[in-house]
Amino acid sequence: MASKPLFIVFEGIDGCGKSTQAELLVSFLQKNKHSTRLIHFPNYTSTTGRQIARHLRGEKIASPERMAVLYAKDKYEGASEIRKLLSTGFNVVVDRYTASNCAYQSARIKGTKAQKEAFINWVLRLEALLPQPDATFIIDVNPPLAFQKNLEKRGRKYLKNKADVYEKDIGFQKQVRDQYLAYAKICKANAFVINAMAGKKMAPKEAVASKVLSALSKALRLAKPTRPKGK
Ligand SMILES: Nc1ncnc2c1ncn2[C@@H]1O[C@H](COP(=O)(O)OP(=O)(O)OP(=O)(O)O)[C@@H](O)[C@H]1O
Ligand SMILES: [Mg+2]
Repeated sequence: MASKPLFIVFEGIDGCGKSTQAELLVSFLQKNKHSTRLIHFPNYTSTTGRQIARHLRGEKIASPERMAVLYAKDKYEGASEIRKLLSTGFNVVVDRYTASNCAYQSARIKGTKAQKEAFINWVLRLEALLPQPDATFIIDVNPPLAFQKNLEKRGRKYLKNKADVYEKDIGFQKQVRDQYLAYAKICKANAFVINAMAGKKMAPKEAVASKVLSALSKALRLAKPTRPKGK
């Protein structure tokens, strides 16, 4: 693994398995003696996070633009911690980051494909001064598969143990998946779509983790400047 600390992000629709994959990568890196921290966004313990949770519970509905600004603010509030960790030699693995904001809020826009893409580009500019990840892995599954997994989830206090407004709607999850794929096209230099399906089922988590590791080593090779011939 590279000597420079890594900043890796896991993304995907609700219930696709991104937290599972983030935790597996953290364990892998730690087992290989690389100091690594896991961070989750949104940070529901902050004032901004509590505002976001009110929206997710459906108590407050804000426009995609206002929500995007709120999600960006939440990350800017967490940026100094990421910078500190990276500068002190820790790898940082993050569960949801810029791509979530791009995918979920652009999926809420009632507009053409081009208008949704313009929205993604606007969010990218809004979040451009955040620490930028070395690689973003989008865990890609069909919404019905992820939906099934969501029903099994319990105990998220910030939602009062209910599904959030986005999770409830399978049609919306399909649009979010499309927007993640649009994000991956726009950010193709460091966004990797990981197919996490095996036929009509979710692939075993270990198989998905091994695809993540292959994509990660590819990302690191691409990031390395090529050495001029003969040196
Ligand atoms: N590859 C897999 N195959 C089968 N089940 C899985 C797989 N990966 C994760 N799961 C299970 O699916 C559920 C959702 O996984 P997880 O919490 O990792 O998803 P998530 O994308 O982080 O969801 P959320 O968006 O709600 O945070 C969990 O019960 C988890 O154990
Ligand atoms: Mg999760």
